[in-house]
Amino acid sequence: MTRPSTPGVQRLTWIRWSCTTALGLSLWCTGAALAFDAQGHRGARGLAPENTLGAFERALAIGVTTLELDVVLSADGVPVITHDTTPNPDITRDAAGRWLQARGKPFHQLTLAEIGAWDVGRINPSSRYARDFAEQVSQDGQHIPTLASLFDRVHQLGARHVRFNIELKINPHKPDESPNPETFVRAVLDVIKAKGMASRVTLQSFDWRIQKVARELSPGMPLSYLSAKSTLRGNDWTAGLRPGDFEDVPALVAAAGGKIWSPNFNDLDQHVLQRARALELRVIPWTVNEPQDMARLIDWGVDGLITDYPDRLRAVMQQRGMGLPPQVMPPVAKAAAPAPESPPAPAPFGVAPELP
Ligand code: G3P
Ligand code: CA
Repeated sequence: MTRPSTPGVQRLTWIRWSCTTALGLSLWCTGAALAFDAQGHRGARGLAPENTLGAFERALAIGVTTLELDVVLSADGVPVITHDTTPNPDITRDAAGRWLQARGKPFHQLTLAEIGAWDVGRINPSSRYARDFAEQVSQDGQHIPTLASLFDRVHQLGARHVRFNIELKINPHKPDESPNPETFVRAVLDVIKAKGMASRVTLQSFDWRIQKVARELSPGMPLSYLSAKSTLRGNDWTAGLRPGDFEDVPALVAAAGGKIWSPNFNDLDQHVLQRARALELRVIPWTVNEPQDMARLIDWGVDGLITDYPDRLRAVMQQRGMGLPPQVMPPVAKAAAPAPESPPAPAPFGVAPELP
């Protein structure tokens, strides 16, 4: 039976709906702002081929708050998702299925078509890398995705909650392997804005020239300052700031204008975490793969963790009674559906199918 719907009832219903929605949204926003940030590193490198759409889908199915990923630019200026500035022979096969024998030209000097021809769905079994990630399940046929195609896939899957921690890979000691910081940041921001993802993105880099440019080009976008021991020698990685001039790394990050600090987790102790807290930095260490390390860091009070094994992190979070991010399953394959008379032509590399 439907209820009578007078203008008064409609108004009351609308007011109730507005209040509930506003309250819900504000609680959600507060929750989102304070929530523990479970980040899947390169998607879920421990479980699926790194930085591929397959790995990001795996992370979403396990349930993460953020997808961590690395980008470089192709010669034609397209942001593509891959970790190194040159192709990695340990994970890359050519169109004939042969493993690359050497790194060759940097991505910055390769076209999108050249990059897209490679298969990165498997680790070379004879490599040390394969032993390091023995649990990784291969997915032959995975290609280096464009950043745009990842946004499209996440949109298609309806994973509205998930954020993106996008690392811009650039090495100040190898200027020939990357575009200049401004060109790089502009190209990445263009894709983020074109796909309407600006409110869901954090930009990160070890090369803090990136954050400097990003702050000018996109004020307000969250920026994460990565650090490792090797990037804190001299001032090349820290946009001219000299680490020795500061009491500690949190002070250095704060002086650079940072609000988020992502150190190697081995460089973190409780004292330095408290220092970061005092400077109002969020602290999200990388790359934490052992459950006992995850548990210790969570107990110390870090704001999130970046891990190759989001399944392990989820288990640790569950043991501690922490809120868990939603799980987003890929659509079930329509195995029983009859094949169309003339199958549609496959989309060219990097071009996502039409969105609904
Ligand atoms: O997000 C930080 C982490 O990804 C940095 O390490 O070398 O795996 O990109 P790397
Ligand atoms: Ca990274």
